[in-house]
Amino acid sequence: MSKEHTYTNGEVTIVWKKELCVHSTKCWRGLSSVFKPGQRPWINAEGATTDAIKAQIDLCPSGALSYRLPNDVAPDPEAEPESLRIEASPNGPLLVKGACTIVHYDGREEKREKITALCRCGASANKPFCDGSHRQTGFSDGPKP
Ligand code: SF4
Ligand code: FES
Repeated sequence: MSKEHTYTNGEVTIVWKKELCVHSTKCWRGLSSVFKPGQRPWINAEGATTDAIKAQIDLCPSGALSYRLPNDVAPDPEAEPESLRIEASPNGPLLVKGACTIVHYDGREEKREKITALCRCGASANKPFCDGSHRQTGFSDGPKP
């Protein structure tokens, strides 16, 4: 299970799972009043409105960032599962979009919501998740057909 850190403005709770970050830089380039990689703590939940925070977190490509709201209800375990969509991001990870269960090589199970970035280059130190290493190794899909 990924360790999580939480930050709240009393309305929305930002959930940060460090080991899932693929270092896309989208969060701090998009909302620098909240996401400040040079500071500790690096997330300031008071730095923008709840709507702005939610909108920015929805753009996180890895699921490292998510949020909770006070009225969130737990998913119904009896509900029909929605189908998954899996996208290959150019020169990067496979993005699994939708709730899923990852079964690790040792049998450990991990539930994921919304989006999960899986390593496609083989270089991640946090397999099966992408950790952004594809950028250092220069992993490439090659020219588009
Ligand atoms: S993967 Fe998510 S948390 Fe990591 S830098 Fe990108 S937007 Fe931020
Ligand atoms: S695809 Fe990102 S580390 Fe392998």
